[in-house]
Amino acid sequence: MALFRCLAIALALSFSSCYLSTPSSATPSDGFLQCLSEKIPSELIFTPDSSNFNGVLVSTIRNLKFLRNTTVKPICVVTVTDASHVQAAIRCGRMNGVRLRVRSGGHDYEGLSYRSVRSEVFGVVDLAKLRAIAVSTDEGVPMAWVESGATIGELYYTISKNNPEVAFPAGTCPTVGVGGHFRGGGMGMLLRKYGLSIDNIVDAKLVNANGDLLDRMAMGENLFWAIRGGSGESFGIVVSWKVSLVKVPSKVTVFNIAKRLDQGTIEILTKWQDVAPTLPSDIIVRVIVQGQQAIFQSLFLGTCDELLPTMTSRLPELNVTKADCSEMSWLESVAFINFGNNDTTALLNRSSTGASAFVKIKSDYVRHAIPKSAWQKIFSWFRMNGAGLVILDPHGGFIGSIPTGATPYPHRSGVLYNIQYITFWSSNDDGSMAKSWVNNFYDFMGQYVTKSPREAYLNYRDLDIGENVVVNDVSTFDSGKVWGKKYFGGNFQRLAAVKRTVDPTDYFRNEQSIPPLPQCN
Ligand code: FDA
Repeated sequence: MALFRCLAIALALSFSSCYLSTPSSATPSDGFLQCLSEKIPSELIFTPDSSNFNGVLVSTIRNLKFLRNTTVKPICVVTVTDASHVQAAIRCGRMNGVRLRVRSGGHDYEGLSYRSVRSEVFGVVDLAKLRAIAVSTDEGVPMAWVESGATIGELYYTISKNNPEVAFPAGTCPTVGVGGHFRGGGMGMLLRKYGLSIDNIVDAKLVNANGDLLDRMAMGENLFWAIRGGSGESFGIVVSWKVSLVKVPSKVTVFNIAKRLDQGTIEILTKWQDVAPTLPSDIIVRVIVQGQQAIFQSLFLGTCDELLPTMTSRLPELNVTKADCSEMSWLESVAFINFGNNDTTALLNRSSTGASAFVKIKSDYVRHAIPKSAWQKIFSWFRMNGAGLVILDPHGGFIGSIPTGATPYPHRSGVLYNIQYITFWSSNDDGSMAKSWVNNFYDFMGQYVTKSPREAYLNYRDLDIGENVVVNDVSTFDSGKVWGKKYFGGNFQRLAAVKRTVDPTDYFRNEQSIPPLPQCN
């Protein structure tokens, strides 16, 4: 019956020419679009008949994989400019049985903010125009309210221009959207000193499945806990976040040191695994491995003279010297790490890392250092056809000191580092070599990384680790557990319990959304 209804909707869609002007609600999607047109200005609603539907849909797509004709696309994109539009879209969707996906910056590695893996009818609420940032001081503590459609580059720039003594811990890529980033964690160069973005969020405004706009007090602590790193799109649409800003010195130090295999890379990397997570928390040294070299990339919250004694005593093999250091402001360091120059205005460019490649990403966590003999084998993978790169982000410091259950992100105490596997290919290529490289390399790495569960980072979304199965119109808990334990460990059950309370009919769902906990659990 459900299948028949889907087919009927799909047929109706392909033959109908102007949904918004259809007076009678012949299908759920007609009714939904009619309802939207009554509540939201028409210039904010884009259907496949609008001349710029495609332009709006692809505006923030970052992965060329999802620009194909076969991609299951939404029946409309609503570019909301006010929280009341989000409320209206959810109420119209629920009333007419049409689901919504929410997109902030569009960087989801599997594109789940704007496409469906399954053949289903859905609309997209796009928050790109909802991106105000207000920096203030609350009882002497610097704070900011940031709307979900802002990018983290815009957030960094606005905070720093307002007060250069403060910053915010979030990712390294400036075009990432605040909404998706915060709902999954937020890992960047300040993580050892100040944790993830989610460790510094103090309030939020969310529209729930009834269309109500709730702040922290109104939503309650369980829901507030869940949306910070627990797959926020499973619970509602977060319109804005209040974040607590963190102190940074006027000068920070950055270095990038590349070491080829014949320059002792394996010895340094082997030692780095134990040193990087135990350095003072104001130093991060992460590693990018590509080809036959590793780049050691560091941010230190202080001057080069203050950094050198620690690096010389803890990791002398890296041989960091004054000539390797560049001193600059924290904001300049964000630009420098991304673009290799200090042009901070480039952080405001929302399309600076637009879709230019086909990408597949996977992730792991390491809790026991990988032996030196294994690094020899690991480097041989980077000589193969289709080889990509890996980024190793050390933990320890503040991120490791936070209790596992304090937020849904469970990869805390005992984690040495996160691995992000990245492979790219271009349109001249079918990607088979790159995809098989990343899959085979991931299988090979299984022996060295966490097991039972094999941990993964939600913001590095990977549908290979599991997808929900929907039975009787609700995602099943058992299918969710397969991937959910990997992202959330023991926190998965609590997330499912929150889902049961706030969205028991599973209105907000995608292929990896939190399923409601069954009544018997
Ligand atoms: P997008 O809009 O695609 O949303 C991602 C997910 O969040 C979707 O499921 C969506 O429905 C949901 N969502 C979006 N807005 C929401 C809202 N307001 N309320 C509820 N749910 C919402 N990560 C990291 O930790 N550190 C890093 O340095 C980087 N760097 C990086 C570089 C590049 C080039 C890419 C493509 C990605 C990263 N990431 C990253 C991963 C990134 O953090 C992750 O993909 C985020 O979810 C992207 O958030 P967007 O809002 O851009 O994506």
